[in-house]
Amino acid sequence: MSIEAGGLQVPVSVIIPAAGSGRRMGGGTAKQFLPLRGEPVLVRTVRLFIRCPLVDEIVIAAGDVEATRALVGDMPKVARIVKGGAERQDSVWAALQAVHSRPRIVAVHDAARPLLTPDVLEGVLRAAATCPAQVVAVPVQDTIKQVGPDGVVVATPDRATLWAVQTPQVFWADVLVRAFHRAMADGFVGTDDASLVERIGVPVRVYRGRPTNLKLTTPGDFRVAEALLEGDA
Ligand code: CTP
Ligand code: MG
Repeated sequence: MSIEAGGLQVPVSVIIPAAGSGRRMGGGTAKQFLPLRGEPVLVRTVRLFIRCPLVDEIVIAAGDVEATRALVGDMPKVARIVKGGAERQDSVWAALQAVHSRPRIVAVHDAARPLLTPDVLEGVLRAAATCPAQVVAVPVQDTIKQVGPDGVVVATPDRATLWAVQTPQVFWADVLVRAFHRAMADGFVGTDDASLVERIGVPVRVYRGRPTNLKLTTPGDFRVAEALLEGDA
């Protein structure tokens, strides 16, 4: 389907960066290919978007394009699988260039976040109809300190202003393309996609998600995810 924005039906593409090597996970197989309760992480992540009626197509950035095609190439909505790059940002850019036709809404979602819930996904996509940049985030529960290289605390920002950001991060495609061009011109590498958009002065809004939308980073995260999925079909 698509999203109605300003009287237009705007198609929705999902970009899944899945080209990482999972250094912090360790082991010989990249985490997106590891089974989580019997199913590869990437299959679970792709299925989240197949099941969302607002999503039209899925573009995946892969390290091993052939292995990724063998795993998810025949799944519905998987339109293209492109070669990713050295950094996550390079992988997202490779996929963004494979997204055709604008106006369009683009949602970027880590392959390594298979626990996103349908309500948050649909909610953030709908919110994007009225704001060009929406990121799923949760208020932080711990007190966060800024610490200098000498290990000494520099500042304690007011916790009420701090959110931990996740994916999906949803953008109007023209805004995201402009943000990437600027970042590449400046040699800027961000740790998320929204930070590129912030640099071009476009307001980025947070959409409240759930703490359970964790990114599988270490083997312990797999154990937590298995526990969270317990009882699911
Ligand atoms: N990713 C990517 N291209 C890269 C690096 C990361 O597409 N060059 C993807 C990963 O596959 C993952 C997502 O970006 O789905 C989030 O990255 P992260 O959790 O850091 O995964 P890895 O980079 O694989 O893990 P690590 O940093 O531990 O090596
Ligand atoms: Mg990484």
